[in-house]
Amino acid sequence: MKQDRNIILIGFMGTGKTTVGQSLAKLLNRPYVSTDDLIVEQEGLPIVDIFSKKGEVYFREVETQVITEVSRRKHAVIDCGGGVVLNPQNIELLKINGTVFHLFATPEFILEQAKGRTDRPLLNVPNPLEEIKRLLELRKPFYQGADFHVSSDHRAIKDICQEIIGKLSHD
Ligand code: S3P
Repeated sequence: MKQDRNIILIGFMGTGKTTVGQSLAKLLNRPYVSTDDLIVEQEGLPIVDIFSKKGEVYFREVETQVITEVSRRKHAVIDCGGGVVLNPQNIELLKINGTVFHLFATPEFILEQAKGRTDRPLLNVPNPLEEIKRLLELRKPFYQGADFHVSSDHRAIKDICQEIIGKLSHD
C-alpha cells in the first residue's frame, strides 16, 4: 500500500461515502476530508442554499476549486460529492495523488438512505426514485473512470472498508 497516496471515494448520493470514509480514516489513521464540508465552510452556506441562491453551475465551479486544493494533499481519505465526476478534470486531478474507489448501490437502496434528508437539493423532487434512476443512468459512464468499484448495497461498513483496504494493498 502506498501510504502517501490519497484514498478517494466517489459514487452517487446515499451510497455511504461519508460513513465509509470516516471509518476508513479511523482504521488507517489518516485524515478524513469531505469536499462538501469544505464547500459549505468556504461559502458559509449549506449546500441547499448554494444551489437555490447561486445555482448548480456556481456550485460546480467551487467544487472544482476545492478538488484542486484537496488533490494536492497526501495520505488523506477524501469523500467527494456525488456529482464530482461531471467534470472529468476533477477525476484527473484526484488521480495524480490518489486511488479512486467508486461506491455503488441500487436506486432502491439509495432512496432508502436518502429518505427524510432535505440537504440534497437534487433529490428534493416529487418522484425521487425516478430522479435517482435518471441521474444514475446519466452518470454511469463517468463513474466508470474509477480505479475500483465497490458495492455498498446492504453491506456492513466494516466489510466495505476491508474490501477497500484489500484492494489498496494490491495497488
Ligand atoms: C451532489 C451530491 C452531494 C452534494 C450536492 C450535489 C450530486 O454530495 O455534493 O448535493 O450532484 O450528486 P453527496 O453525494 O455527498 O450527498
